[in-house]
Amino acid sequence: MPTERFTFPANFLWGTATAAHQVEGNNVNSDYWLLEHTAGSPYVEPSGDACDQYHYYADDIAMLARLGFNSYRFSIEWARVEPEPGHFSRAVLDHYRRVLACCHENKITPVVTFHHFTSPRWVAGDGGWNDKKTAALFARYCERAAAHLGDLIGVACTINEANLGAYLYLLGVLPPRLDPAQLPWLADAARRIGADPNRFAPYLMCDQMKARDTMLEAHRLSFAALKSSRGNFPVGITLALGDLQAVPGGEERRDRMKAECQDIFYEAARDDDFIGVQTYTRDRISADGALRPEPGVETTMMHYEFWPEALEATIRQASAVAKVPIIVTESGIGTDKDDRRIEYVRRALAGVANCLRDGIDVRGYFYWSLLDNFEWNSGYRPTFGLVAVDRETQNRSMKPSAKWLGDIARANATAVPIDHT
Ligand code: BGC
Repeated sequence: MPTERFTFPANFLWGTATAAHQVEGNNVNSDYWLLEHTAGSPYVEPSGDACDQYHYYADDIAMLARLGFNSYRFSIEWARVEPEPGHFSRAVLDHYRRVLACCHENKITPVVTFHHFTSPRWVAGDGGWNDKKTAALFARYCERAAAHLGDLIGVACTINEANLGAYLYLLGVLPPRLDPAQLPWLADAARRIGADPNRFAPYLMCDQMKARDTMLEAHRLSFAALKSSRGNFPVGITLALGDLQAVPGGEERRDRMKAECQDIFYEAARDDDFIGVQTYTRDRISADGALRPEPGVETTMMHYEFWPEALEATIRQASAVAKVPIIVTESGIGTDKDDRRIEYVRRALAGVANCLRDGIDVRGYFYWSLLDNFEWNSGYRPTFGLVAVDRETQNRSMKPSAKWLGDIARANATAVPIDHT
């Protein structure tokens, strides 16, 4: 296919993304750590030291800069910042100030996410994401954290994939509600922190539609808190956006799903500074629900279809409904074949270029993830990283894709197919 050199807009953010729980290590006060250590839970292994980024952050940020990136998306951990209700740790906030300062020293724009799935145990134990009051607690934490860190923040994401529970429920991957009465491990985890099992609700382990509404409210309140805090940075929300494609007969169901787990969030984001698009694959929807990938098609280590074209579709949809700028806050693939990673990103970037050529305001691309890291229930098996991590020594080793994408970032340009119509 003939290609041409495509130059991205000036100031385009080129980065990689991570989340505190998946890379920092020893997030012992979080609800997910508790679940990982409860017998019978779906976690195949605990996160443990993860990539020990709590201590290796300076090396990781310098490595990113050396590779050619100009931005880094990471999360600050509520469970560390507010280990007990109303007790905010100055030492932890100072730690994150050092991380942010290190980004600036390396000419890396820090993109800070305030919630990436994990919460303090005390939050999950007292109603968690089933309870509307969590929205106000979350906004209070954002306000305190931004008062300490705001002058160093480049871009802020309130909540990571606030729609994920609703999306997975509507896809049929999660039940409408994870009920501690039916799931002994969930009730055991609650009891281990002295919580009433009926009030224990970590994100994704709750009533998915209630949690969706709490998340919408949490975004609204935290957006306001961050906008009026120290510093002056764009604020948005990030969403899990599969490209929902109807097979014949599935149109009505697909449209219902879109309305419930995508459009409602786009509409809520109309006054935001951007939407964070996070897309990994497409989902084919029939009248009876989501279909498995067809036999013989290429799948990733996450068992879903290799479909990089999904990103272009979701950017177009998010931008058309929300009418705000887009940042691709996550795009990536879990694979042990690095040449497939390069192919995936090459095609995803061609989609971003198509959107830009059509005048859509896309402001950045963040590859998930910098490091092979803790992939939630699946543990350390799926490898999303541009950089491998030795689980014993924490030694980092770059894969060819790290240099390949870093070179594109440094040039702010890449070859894309000429004809995109
Ligand atoms: C999440 C990440 C996760 C990635 C790959 C996204 O849904 O934000 O935490 O590791 O997908 O599965």
